[in-house]
Order: sequence, then C-alpha cells, then structure tokens
Amino acid sequence: MGALFDNSIGLLERLGDPSLALDGPSRTYVVLGAVVQAMPEADRQALFELLLDRKYSLNNLAKCTFLLGFAAERSGMIPQHELGQQQGEGWGLLGHLFDPSLGIETSTRALLLLGAITEHNGYAPEQVLQILQDQDWAMGNADKAVLLLVAAALQPKLAIDAGTFLGGSASALSMFAERVITIDIDPARAQNVEHLPNVDFLSGIASDVLAELLPTTPAAELVVLDASHTCNGIQAEVEQLLSNPPSCLRAVLIHDSAMETCRAGLDLIDWAAYPLVRSFTLDFLPGVENEEGVMGGGLAVVWLLE
Ligand SMILES: C[S@@+](CC[C@H](N)C(=O)[O-])C[C@H]1O[C@@H](n2cnc3c(N)ncnc32)[C@H](O)[C@@H]1O
Repeated sequence: MGALFDNSIGLLERLGDPSLALDGPSRTYVVLGAVVQAMPEADRQALFELLLDRKYSLNNLAKCTFLLGFAAERSGMIPQHELGQQQGEGWGLLGHLFDPSLGIETSTRALLLLGAITEHNGYAPEQVLQILQDQDWAMGNADKAVLLLVAAALQPKLAIDAGTFLGGSASALSMFAERVITIDIDPARAQNVEHLPNVDFLSGIASDVLAELLPTTPAAELVVLDASHTCNGIQAEVEQLLSNPPSCLRAVLIHDSAMETCRAGLDLIDWAAYPLVRSFTLDFLPGVENEEGVMGGGLAVVWLLE
C-alpha cells in the first residue's frame, strides 16, 4: 500500500496501471478512497455528501472519476501542464487532455480533468454533475466531459453549437461561454433554448447559416458540429468553417465521428489545405457499436493555431 500513496503523480498514474491487478473501475474507487482519506475533514465530508447523494443519477464510475479529479486538484496533486505557460492558464489542465503522460485513457482523463477544472475555476461541482447527467443532452459521458472541459478551459466569448435538438449541448456551453449561438434546421427547436439568456437560436441548414455567420463572428473560439450527419452535410460544415475561420477560433468538436456517414464526410476533407489546423484527431473518443452492429457516437477534435 505504501507505494500506492507515495507520491501524488504516481497515485493518479495508478488509474492506468494494470499491475495493480484490479479492473479500471476498481482502480478508480481505490484511488478515490486514498485521495479523499488524505483530505482535511471538512473537504472529506463535502466530497462524501456529493458521492452519496442519490440525486446524481450519473453512473458510479463517471461520478467517481469526476470527484477524483475534483479532490486531486483540491489536494494539489495534478501537475500544471507546460502548455499552461505557453497558451494561458486554462491549458494548465486542458493540456493533459491531449498528452497521454498521465497514463490514463482518454475518456477517464476527460472526466478526471473536468472534475479538476471545476475545482480550479471555482465552479459548483453540483452544477457540473447536473449538466453531465442531463438527459436532454444527446451525447455520451466522455463526449460531454470533453466538451465541458474545453469550454471551461477556454471560457469563450462566443461558442457556436450546430445541432440544437433538445438544447443539451447549447445549455452546457452556456455555462462557460459568454454567449452561445445554436443552429438547427428545425425552427421548433428554438423553444428548447429560449430559457437560456446567453443563447441565441438561428434556424437553417448549418453550413448555410455558418457561411453567413462566420464573417461577423470573429469572437467564436469554440464550435461544436452535431447538425448534419450526412457525408456531404458534415463535409460542407467543416469546409465552411475552415475556409472562413473566425480569428479567435481554437477548437472544433465534431460529434458522431464514428458514424459511417460522418466518417466518410470527414475523410473527404483535405486537412492539409488549411494551414491554421494544428491537429485533427478523428477518433479522439472512439464510438460505440449498437445492438445492430452500427457504429455511433465518437468525437473528432480539431485544434487551430493561435
Ligand atoms: C444529434 S442532434 C443534436 C444534439 C445536440 N447537439 C445535443 O448534444 O444534445 C442533431 C440536430 O441537428 C439538426 N439538424 C440535422 N441536419 C441539420 C442541418 N443540415 N443543419 C442544421 N441542423 C440540422 C436536427 O434537427 C437535430 O435537432
């Protein structure tokens, strides 16, 4: 046991350490127990209350991974990533999302870092847990965690959300962005975001709306594409965005990248033709296969140069 608790970075690395002879979830619970046990009494009580509160219906593993990140950051266990020095404070944690050196697989790392940034930026963990378990948000927990983490780290003046549906991703972005523009082909979707004061709704085909919008929205730092899921539709949205990138644009998150039609569309894009693109990762989060053997979900991530 001594080795398990010896040094803080080593402790988090235990999450991805198969030599512990525990499965992934059990490693998370053991490490969470160890981190919480070492906290001052008041912090420990607050953590246990969140842990045991049944109003968070989020699955146990996602909840515990988030709370582990929160507790580890509170205890000063997560090293500042070097990108924090180069790119600004938010990157001190966000940098770990793109760097496997913590030794933890991506979806676990995203939830852990989301917990950490919640503590670091002083957000209420209850509020972040609530949005993570929002049933109106049509994404998986890991996709949600990446979106929230990127938004919390960048704190964009403006985020664009293509594909409003029930308002899940728009509502999540509205927590961390000053303003959100959400787009849907179905004008009736406006009612799903009208209660959000910093969200504006635009109706139309996303690639057409983007063509009009982009020249007038230089402040858009983060764009989430989850509108068209056809090959040509997703291709048109991405090409529109990269041909007229707002000057502040840093990140594009593309949902359902594991879907065959979306993959085909993303495959048609000549990424090298856009010099602003620093990286494109198709399977940043892999998708899942449904009972009929059809792939869905998954998140592709595009980073742009400053
Ligand atoms: C998967 S849902 C979006 C889910 C939402 N982003 C979330 O995370 O909860 C896709 C939405 O995109 C809209 N949509 C489909 N094709 C579109 C297009 N070409 N342009 C704009 N919206 C489109 C649909 O009406 C639907 O509401």
